[in-house]
Amino acid sequence: MSRPLRKVVFPVAGLGTRFLPATKVVAKEMLPVLDRPLIQYAVDEAVDAGADTLIFVTNRYKHSIADYFDTAYELEQKLERAGKKELLALVQNVVPKHVRCVFVTQAEALGLGHAVLCAKPVIGDEPFGVILPDDLIWNKGPGALRQMTEFAASEGAGAIAVEEVPHEQTDKYGIVDAVPVNERAALIKHVVEKPKPDVAPSNLAIVGRYVLPGRIFELLEKTRPGAGGEIQLTDGIAALLAEQKVYAYRFDGTRFDCGSKLGLVRATLHFALEDPSLAEATRQFVNAAKH
Ligand code: G1P
Repeated sequence: MSRPLRKVVFPVAGLGTRFLPATKVVAKEMLPVLDRPLIQYAVDEAVDAGADTLIFVTNRYKHSIADYFDTAYELEQKLERAGKKELLALVQNVVPKHVRCVFVTQAEALGLGHAVLCAKPVIGDEPFGVILPDDLIWNKGPGALRQMTEFAASEGAGAIAVEEVPHEQTDKYGIVDAVPVNERAALIKHVVEKPKPDVAPSNLAIVGRYVLPGRIFELLEKTRPGAGGEIQLTDGIAALLAEQKVYAYRFDGTRFDCGSKLGLVRATLHFALEDPSLAEATRQFVNAAKH
């Protein structure tokens, strides 16, 4: 696993039912945090980690994600003619020129493990990253996936992003049982998908970032449906642990759970407060709302 990471998978076939009715026509990953869709934050993080191939596992209804990464000829021509160079650059630079986007269809919603397995023909046998765009991770330095990629390469192992969650929420996450090796990393002994709080081995939860070896695909092919009747990535990783080291990694950064309304609101406020042109007015609005 010491080869650099080139490929990152984005499982984006989910229905986004928590955001209905908006998600009747807008893919969940296209919901904006300020002026950028969620998927853009995820893609930027992948590119920051060194990826040059982005693999979107989508479904047949979600054309907007492919459209977003495609060339918008008419719009670009109009902006060019109007001399609106900055806007043109925004439209053209959603991914750098050297990065290619590949779209794979997940025909049936059989679970996250199955979605990742759909990327096998594009990845083959090399280490790759997975980003779940719902989990938006912000920080000022290197992105979470880059931090994990560097750690995984130095150890020749896999890495999964984790953070502590309230104990009563263990049944919303994959939960790891791991032995710390330094202040950020812990060697995973065991991993279980969405355990009830009374049987959870810890409150250290998987958040949506993974660096995995190509071997995981063969293990996912053999993985039977687990929690929720779905083929779980967590169960594939549990099988991988019998063969290889995988570390839980506490990244430096703040995670926003944008799969929930509150998380999306928090992320939006956070980015508004980080934006010099919006910060003061946002602060005033938030302070006024307190009273
Ligand atoms: C998925 C994974 C889970 C992980 C979570 C992080 O669950 O299966 O292990 O903790 O993402 O967001 P989901 O949120 O898709 O149910």
